Amino acid sequence: MNDKHEYMDVDVYAGKSAIVTGAARGIGFGIAQHLVAGGATVVLNDVDAPSTERAVAELNARGPGRAIAYTGDASDVDFIYAMVAHAAGLEGCRFEIVVANAGRTEFGDFFDFTEESFQKVVDLNLKGTFFLTQAAARQLRAQAAGGRIILIGSNVGSRAYNNLTAYGMSKAAIAMLARQLVLDLGPLGITVNCVAPGATLTERTALEEPDYAGIWSQLNPDGRVGLPEDVAAAVGFFLSPAAGHVTGQELFVDGGWTGYAPSPYFAEQIRQWEKKGPR
Ligand SMILES: NC(=O)c1ccc[n+]([C@@H]2O[C@H](COP(=O)([O-])OP(=O)(O)OC[C@H]3O[C@@H](n4cnc5c(N)ncnc54)[C@H](O)[C@@H]3O)[C@@H](O)[C@H]2O)c1
Repeated sequence: MNDKHEYMDVDVYAGKSAIVTGAARGIGFGIAQHLVAGGATVVLNDVDAPSTERAVAELNARGPGRAIAYTGDASDVDFIYAMVAHAAGLEGCRFEIVVANAGRTEFGDFFDFTEESFQKVVDLNLKGTFFLTQAAARQLRAQAAGGRIILIGSNVGSRAYNNLTAYGMSKAAIAMLARQLVLDLGPLGITVNCVAPGATLTERTALEEPDYAGIWSQLNPDGRVGLPEDVAAAVGFFLSPAAGHVTGQELFVDGGWTGYAPSPYFAEQIRQWEKKGPR
């Protein structure tokens, strides 16, 4: 993935530790990269052990922060508790940041969607996000010094999208979790916000569609596909001192896709773009 984190101060996260789930590749890796570039210690979780080791080695070669591999299933509640305890016990840094990024995208026709597929979505997107947030919040409450929790939602949690019914429903619930928790976490000085990416070019989405970037550069009003660093920059805003009074929000990082409704004019515009080829 591209490396566009040069704008950052190298010590903005110095002395802080963070957990990022599902971070061996894609958006999670981009977020971990952002945090390490700012001097954080990142507990980098992924279910895929070799990829986790590779990601950690890459981040540690760059610094100035560090990454620590923590392989396992981010939908397993006992594993989540152990991961938070591990992050909180690290020496030389204070546990302050959690990014619940791991998520399962299951495409499927609504009429044929199986209980098994539904369960996979619910286990990771809902149960994993909920209990990571709960475990982290308990730890932050015990530390009594505030903290920042970021949940990764999706623009399809707000807009109907073909064959993503269960996924969209789960992402809508994630945005609601952020809103709901203002009551529980606000008094503790813990902010909780949701970053909702639009179509983002990752290793996974590049496999979904060979011209993923070309197609989305035509559909997104800003004329380009999203990149993991776009999402990481939005996470960075919620982690910044400037966002200390911002909680319960959902921020779309989608080049404007969520803002428009399809119209006859837009259909014509797409036809014109198709004639010209990708921009
Ligand atoms: N890429 C997009 O276009 C897009 C758009 C909107 C929202 N999102 C959301 O952003 C997040 C990251 O998306 P992505 O496309 O980078 O992800 P991805 O599907 O590429 O997966 C990223 C990583 O998560 C790991 N993972 C899968 N199951 C896991 C589990 N149970 N425990 C721990 N790790 C696990 C995978 O091994 C992989 O390395 C997800 O929550 C996704 O729903 C992505």
